[in-house]
Amino acid sequence: MSDIDTVFQKLKQSKKYKYLCDDTLYRISHWAVQRFPPKEAVKAAKNKLHQVYGAFFAKINPLRMQKLLKQISANPDAETLKSMAVKIMQSHTSTCERIPFMKKFYSDLFKRIGKPKKIFDAACGLNPFSIPWMDLPPNTEYYACDIDTQLISVINIFFSCLSSSYRAECADILVSIPEFTGDVVFLLKTLPCLEQQQKGISEKLLTSLKAKYVVISFPSATLCGKAKGMGNYYDTFALELINSLNFNYIKLEYPNELFYVIPLGEAHSVTSHRRRIRAI
Ligand SMILES: C[S@@+](CC[C@H](N)C(=O)[O-])C[C@H]1O[C@@H](n2cnc3c(N)ncnc32)[C@H](O)[C@@H]1O
Repeated sequence: MSDIDTVFQKLKQSKKYKYLCDDTLYRISHWAVQRFPPKEAVKAAKNKLHQVYGAFFAKINPLRMQKLLKQISANPDAETLKSMAVKIMQSHTSTCERIPFMKKFYSDLFKRIGKPKKIFDAACGLNPFSIPWMDLPPNTEYYACDIDTQLISVINIFFSCLSSSYRAECADILVSIPEFTGDVVFLLKTLPCLEQQQKGISEKLLTSLKAKYVVISFPSATLCGKAKGMGNYYDTFALELINSLNFNYIKLEYPNELFYVIPLGEAHSVTSHRRRIRAI
């Protein structure tokens, strides 16, 4: 058995990471073996997985989620659906922090880009549970992906209560960027996490996606309101990225999250006359 296979098998047996898709476990095993001697590689791989996945999912309990989803299936009225979705979103830091302004955010976003017919929520976490606040027309297609098989099956149960044109799949976007042609790609609070796994991936992603718009976002303060320069740091990161690719953007700013809406259709054609719009 190769060193990579040994690390992979250890991760596959670990309580915390066994539900991650094989592509991710294999990719991280490869990363660890390249950098660390065999005795340290498993620990290094687990540390990396904690940084890019475990830290967000610490409070997630898929069994509790399934119980909540059963309540939705038994009583699928709009109020039950929304109150269960809020409870579920509270278990992931990224969505929990977005709950207070998610309705306003989607309304602001769709006022600017129009109601999308096809959405790709990449590295979605629990964000698909915010769909009831997006006010989407019934025939909208929604495709979501993340690296956690348990999370994906919970999202698909939720989708079955909403629409047959929604689906979620386990996919590692660092192994292969899903083929998507549609209106908008959400990369919410995801680029920092992907950069920790592959430096420079943000630029590659933004130039490979085939959609009318991509929305990238970054945290600007922690849940308890401490900013610690986070907003400025990510604003600089986002603007350097956007400017290096000559993209336009619309910035939407809320209490703890910064969003940059980037029209990809105009990519590369804008060279000298760069238009920047700042909103809200
Ligand atoms: C900070 S969370 C953001 C979740 C969600 N986009 C949101 O804002 O609510 C980062 C997410 O990226 C996922 N992730 C990390 N690496 C990934 C990869 N290589 N491919 C797909 N998803 C990944 C994690 O599992 C986690 O759900």
